[in-house]
Amino acid sequence: MNTTVFKLKNDNGLVIEFLSHGAKIKAIKVPDGDEYVDVALGYDTVDAIINGDAYMGAICGRVANRINNGSFKLDGKKYNLNKNDRTNTLHGGPTGFQTKYWQVEPITKGGYCSAYKLSLFSADGEEGFPGNLQVTIIYALNNKNEFLIDIKAQSDKKTVVNLTSHPYFNLNGVGKGRIFNHRLEINAKQFTPINHLSIPTGEILDLKGSDLDFSKPVRLGDVINSDFEPIKALSGIDHNFVLNKKAKQMDFACRLSEPESGRSIEVYTTQPGLQAYTSMHFDGTEVGKGGIPFHHYCGIAIEAQNYPDAPNQPNFPSSVLMPNDTYNEQIIYKFGF
Ligand code: BGC
Repeated sequence: MNTTVFKLKNDNGLVIEFLSHGAKIKAIKVPDGDEYVDVALGYDTVDAIINGDAYMGAICGRVANRINNGSFKLDGKKYNLNKNDRTNTLHGGPTGFQTKYWQVEPITKGGYCSAYKLSLFSADGEEGFPGNLQVTIIYALNNKNEFLIDIKAQSDKKTVVNLTSHPYFNLNGVGKGRIFNHRLEINAKQFTPINHLSIPTGEILDLKGSDLDFSKPVRLGDVINSDFEPIKALSGIDHNFVLNKKAKQMDFACRLSEPESGRSIEVYTTQPGLQAYTSMHFDGTEVGKGGIPFHHYCGIAIEAQNYPDAPNQPNFPSSVLMPNDTYNEQIIYKFGF
């Protein structure tokens, strides 16, 4: 059980801390004069992280987001997964990657100030998924304030994979209120609507003119209480946006900014979708950094990934990984301060 806090640092004073447990981002310390502001929701101690909100800061897998009814078929064979979200499997199941201790080693990576390689082996049948899966991640930080997450996976059997990074951001600093004054821009013209169990209906609908249209920057407080049915049904945003980009190509996905602090995060990715989630499951009962409770809308998760339930949705990008192929996706968070 490795409880070390690993640190990525650059010459501008940006520091990103993470743990072996869940590959969880513990803190993102952005310079602010002689001090710093931590913009990643989380906990003060390693113990609290291990026992706290399962996905906060974690790498989620084997299949991030929801799988309808906890099952899918590959070549006619049905696989039954462990369920943890009503009738669904969420983020890989109850003992998904968020609960695992990753092997961590420092590496040198050209163009980056500090970098680590994280490795995880997931055995055939774990949580019901087929194939022995070997996952390797690189966390690397450069002087352009870009935090790269490079994710690779290989399986010895045909399987399904969708891996993402799940930090919650508050650019005013954790515990500094809600994200209402944050502006969100997403490079998307379409989204995948969902049913009452948050499972995609399979449609891909245009966003233009709706309150989920973030193609130009939108103040979150102006839309979070919208009467637009998809937002109203969830009391906020928890939707998958279809990124307006070519498959597998690294491109701009979204920009989150907060004008009073002057801070921003841009997300670039090779992934086809972006789940934006405005933290509606926090109800004040759980306490985070500085003893401050997590409330509705105290942070926003922006998760670059494949569309939800892709293993059951024939018209979504495929989540199938063939033996001898390599799953390889990248996410870059670029911090502005
Ligand atoms: C999902 C939410 C879920 C949350 C749990 C997000 O990725 O979109 O529906 O409640 O993860 O941490």
